[in-house]
This record gives sequence, C-alpha cells and structure tokens, in this order.
Amino acid sequence: MSDDSRPSPSAGPSAARTAAVIPAAGRGVRLGPGAPKALRALSGTPMLIHAVRAMAASRAVSLVVVVAPPDGAAEVKTLLDAHALPERTDFLVVPGGRSRQESVKLGLDALPAGHDIVLVHDAARPLVPVDTVDAVIEAVRDGAPAVVPALPLADTVKQVEPAGTPGEPEPVVATPERALLRAVQTPQGFDRATLVRAHETVTGEVTDDAGMVEQLGLTVVAVPGHEEAFKVTRPLDLVLAEAVLARRRLNDGF
Ligand code: C5P
Repeated sequence: MSDDSRPSPSAGPSAARTAAVIPAAGRGVRLGPGAPKALRALSGTPMLIHAVRAMAASRAVSLVVVVAPPDGAAEVKTLLDAHALPERTDFLVVPGGRSRQESVKLGLDALPAGHDIVLVHDAARPLVPVDTVDAVIEAVRDGAPAVVPALPLADTVKQVEPAGTPGEPEPVVATPERALLRAVQTPQGFDRATLVRAHETVTGEVTDDAGMVEQLGLTVVAVPGHEEAFKVTRPLDLVLAEAVLARRRLNDGF
C-alpha cells in the first residue's frame, strides 16, 4: 500500500534528473528452460514490462534504459512499443554483455547528459513498489553517493567451506550475527559520477553495483526495502509474483 503522507521526489527543474538502467540480458537458467527470464510473462505481461513500469511509476524518473539480451534488442524495442508506458518518461534499448556488470556498464555508456542520479534495477524484480523507488532517490538527493534498499534476514546465515560437488556436506566456518545482516534489493541508487567511476576502476566479480562503490572506499547507505521487491529466481518465485499481482488487482477493485 502506498503512503501518501510522504512527499514523493519532485521532478521540478531544480531537482536532479533521474535515469533508471534495467539490466535484462540474463538467461535466468535457474527458472528452468524457456525464454530469457525478463521476457517471461507474469499475469500475461512480460516481467521486463512490469519492471519498466515500476521505475517509470516514480515521477522523478525521466529516462529508462533497458539493457536487452545481445541478440534481442529489436524484440525488446517492439515489446516496449506494444505496451502502455507513461508519456513523461523516455525509453532507450541497448544490447547487453556477458555479465551483469558488463550489461550495466553498457547501459551507463548510453546515458545522455543531464541525468545526475542513476538507479540500477534488476528486471528480475518486477514488483518493487514506487515508494521504495522514491525512498532510494530521496536518499541520493540527500547526499549519499550510493543507496541500497535492504531488509533484515529471516534465516540465520552460515559461512561454509564450499564443497567441490553439489550436495556434498559442507563444513560451517562461521555464523555472522544475524541482526547485523541485511538482504539487499534493487533499485540501487547512485550519484552518476560515482557509479561511472566505480565501473571504470573496479574489476573482478561483483554481485551488485553498490559493492563496487564500497570498493572505492565510499559509504553506501541502506534504506528500508520491501518484501514485494523480491527477485524472481526460481519457479516458486513465479507463483509468489502471481499471488502479489492478484492481491493488487483485488485491492485496486475496492
Ligand atoms: O542472474 P541474476 O538473477 O543475478 O541477474 C540479475 C539481473 O542481471 C537480471 O535482471 C538479468 O537479466 C541481468 N543480467 C544482465 N546481463 C547478464 C546477466 C544478467 O543484464 N549478462
């Protein structure tokens, strides 16, 4: 449910303009065989379109850059043209790379001047509420170079010595204090120059963009995430996503 009492970031001329980059070039093998994950349908609409609408729902976001599978940019362009999207938002499609990191970099390279705040949002998180998007933008506007939406963990986490073979028992080497841990979601928000510098200087495997900014020695802040911003990774997540959409339709009906 949205909280109308909280002011949403204005899109006025004095406010920094925000662009969203959506890496959507992954195959999503953990979801099983079929179309690239971003193009799988949720409630009859491709996951990617849900994710694009989730970013465009913020009045602060004036441009959405979709990073498409390298051989699927034309298909993604056709898809965006075929779905109703807010008129105040511009859309760009660029072909992606071999890794998520490379895909985000290609999206950043395509950004025109004039957008000083950049969101990076996984196509695989189609249902993030607009209040979460706005909270991330607000924290960047308040001066944080990088912002992540994050939730406390329900499960205790163990660090293990990974077994070479899947299914083999793995020795536990540590139990980090759960109260100090957060599960991190997207959209992650950045001061554009900081994110560009991170992508130019940090090498090696990273699983999120904020991690690259941490490697620059800068402080990343976490704001409250949302349970509906979960990542669609496994087949059960599709069932959950359909249930969230059904509940929204029901709530909208009253
Ligand atoms: O694989 P994972 O679920 O971590 O992917 C996160 C996001 O990164 C997805 O939206 C996926 O489409 C994207 N991705 C990408 N280019 C790749 C690999 C993943 O844009 N080469």
